[in-house]
Amino acid sequence: MRVLAIESSCDETAAAVVVDGRVARSSVVASQVDLHARYGGIVPEVASRQHLRNIIPVVREALANAGCTLDDIEAVAGTRGPGLAGSLLVGYNAAKAIAFGRELPFLGVNHLEGHIYANWLVEGAEPRFPALCLVVSGGHTDLVFMRGHGLYERLGGTRDDAAGEAFDKVGRLLGLPFPGGPHVAKAAETGGPSSLELPRAWMHGSFDFSFSGLKTAALHVVQAGQYDVPTIAWEFQEAVVDVLAGKTSRLARELGAAEVLVAGGVAANTRLREELQRRCAVPVRIPPKEFCTDNAAMIGAAAGHRLALGERSPIDEDIFTTNQWARVGEREQAISPRKAAAV
Ligand code: KG4
Ligand code: ZN
Repeated sequence: MRVLAIESSCDETAAAVVVDGRVARSSVVASQVDLHARYGGIVPEVASRQHLRNIIPVVREALANAGCTLDDIEAVAGTRGPGLAGSLLVGYNAAKAIAFGRELPFLGVNHLEGHIYANWLVEGAEPRFPALCLVVSGGHTDLVFMRGHGLYERLGGTRDDAAGEAFDKVGRLLGLPFPGGPHVAKAAETGGPSSLELPRAWMHGSFDFSFSGLKTAALHVVQAGQYDVPTIAWEFQEAVVDVLAGKTSRLARELGAAEVLVAGGVAANTRLREELQRRCAVPVRIPPKEFCTDNAAMIGAAAGHRLALGERSPIDEDIFTTNQWARVGEREQAISPRKAAAV
């Protein structure tokens, strides 16, 4: 099935054509990073207005790059949530309008589920279940157990800042451009081990995370002025990576997971990728960097699998802004109990 997918949950307007939830024929991403950089963060009203400007050209480009027209599209998918309401509405309604106008099946997709399904966009054997998913984005940090397509059980997550949010805030403390994540990672390349010891919140007895203490510790170090930017960036990155890789590898072992799937913007971090590969006993899948950060191909991949299970969304379904993993899974289970039980 050839799906046109649209994503606009935050500050990227994206469209893609994806076949059978596995092959991205095109993936176009119009980033607004430069627009928001001067404010040091995303301004929701500016983002939604920019989505309005970008949406039609981006969809046109995605179709052209895939060598097709709307006549070749068999279903339309859009990101339903979580994200910024004003941003979500633009892409979601564009997807609905195309589906309605063309009388095509329509599906609303959970953005975080999309991040996970970026792992299906890679050639070769499909990911195997049960899988442990580490979702690390700008807004979420979750450890989710996935027994089959569309079935999620959240076993841990952050109690305060998301991993990407912590990178972005520390980037700002260090005077680096927005978004901080990639810039902190770049600065860390010229840093190395030092006498600076930043704290790791292990949250013993749970698979939860906490990054706010680490962020405050980094603030105090910056204020004291004893260490240079590359050293602080290196030590901060090591502290985040240590906890993420340590907890993920341990939980994968305890659950007997067949694979670990990494997802979200922070999965683009090279040190995190290295350390997860090194510490996990089972295969670790991490999407190529272009599919780690926000894109629409991942939405098309998730949609392809749900559409194949017979799922459709009502055309009047609304967006949502906060996530609930249990709800995502329950919905799928209700629709396809036999398929779900078979996995
Ligand atoms: O998944 P994503 O593109 O958007 C959300 O759904 O939130 O994630 C964006 C986050 C930002 O916080 C960004 O700083 C972070 O991913 N990020 C990175 C790297 N590349 C992007 N963090 C650390 N290292 C990177 N290389
Ligand atoms: Zn995202």
